[in-house]
Amino acid sequence: MTEPRALPIAARAEDRPFDPAAELYELQREEGLPRVTVPSPILGDFEAVMITRYEDARSVLRDDRLRMGFVFDPEAPRTMLNQPGNLLNYNGDEHSRLRRMLTGAFSVKRVRALRPMIEEIVSARLDALSEAGPGADLVRVFSTPIPTMVICELLGVPYADRADFQHRAQVGLDVNTTREVQIRNLAEMDEYMAGLVADHRKQPGDNVLGGVVRDFGHELTDDELVGIGNMLLIAGHETTASMLSASTALLLQHPDQLAVVRDEPSKIDDAVEELLRYCAPATIMPRQAAAPMSVRGQRIEEGERVVVSILAANRDPDATEHDLDALDVSRQPRPHVTFGHGVHQCLGQQLARMELRVALPALFDRFPTLKPAVPWEEIDYRTTALVFGVRELPVTW
Ligand code: HEM
Repeated sequence: MTEPRALPIAARAEDRPFDPAAELYELQREEGLPRVTVPSPILGDFEAVMITRYEDARSVLRDDRLRMGFVFDPEAPRTMLNQPGNLLNYNGDEHSRLRRMLTGAFSVKRVRALRPMIEEIVSARLDALSEAGPGADLVRVFSTPIPTMVICELLGVPYADRADFQHRAQVGLDVNTTREVQIRNLAEMDEYMAGLVADHRKQPGDNVLGGVVRDFGHELTDDELVGIGNMLLIAGHETTASMLSASTALLLQHPDQLAVVRDEPSKIDDAVEELLRYCAPATIMPRQAAAPMSVRGQRIEEGERVVVSILAANRDPDATEHDLDALDVSRQPRPHVTFGHGVHQCLGQQLARMELRVALPALFDRFPTLKPAVPWEEIDYRTTALVFGVRELPVTW
């Protein structure tokens, strides 16, 4: 067996943060499946078989022999990635039991009904941006607060608590914080969520958490409800915030594509799909083989870890005859696994799409002269984190 190779977790090209690193393309062209060491401050470094091709990604993610390897362990310390109720910590029947309680709240129909609330949040953030400038950090004033506010609405977080809530969310998601800080922060978050759950138990609010308590509260422990709340925050916050900032940075560099987003409402759904493919904010999906299996003739042993590279799969030249390295918001089809695939496919994908479809055209419409306030080379991208993003996006208009 060949020695595993070290691979930066996000593996993006140094000077082109939206593109996979050359070494990722090289792995994709290899005949067999490469074995890599994946460095991860949160999960701990691990060795894994790497999946980089689009069709391989979809087939392994549909295969129920490949399971979530980081399952909930009640004996281990609670972290963002180890808690009851978090769908990403469960497999098989335990996973479907929890997932079926949540799918209704995130259906296309239910998300459509959230549109006026999202429009209101976006409009308030555009006002805040206008008041802050000309000249402001788009990440802090626009991209981060939008998904946080949306999640606050879903969980029924009172207005007075929102600033604290947002702060804790950010600490919890910062991969550069130490494990100790993470654990302490989660304890605070748990305490706060437990209060919200207790309130909803007394009087279920007219929101997602309230709906789950009303319909399934008798089947769920308080601990699970707390974990569900934390999971929605973790999964829905950073990824969406990152998409908003990254898409803005990308579109400002492609004015012809930006014009489509701003001026052609009938094309916004297609455009958002292409931006999702191109930005791929969640970069990898880790799994573990529960039984021996083979992918393209290569054996994967029971217990072996597998990691699917979303970044590479979304640029697989074999997925379509078109050039997937080019950004083309009008393109069809747009093969991507940005929201994953199979049973763990993103629960909140319709919500994320809606936030992007509302926020991006509104931003460019309200600020037609929006431009970066620093040279492009100075924009600080988070290229090595589990979730790709922009640390700061100074803009002016
Ligand atoms: C799962 C990406 C927004 C909730 C996932 C997965 C991906 C993903 C790749 C699958 C992980 C895996 O299979 O290992 C994204 C991206 C988003 C986004 C790129 C934004 C652009 C959201 C939002 C919510 C959400 C807004 C909810 C508020 C979830 C949940 C899961 C999940 C609960 C776990 C599903 C399961 O295990 O059954 N997401 N997500 N996500 N996402 Fe999202």
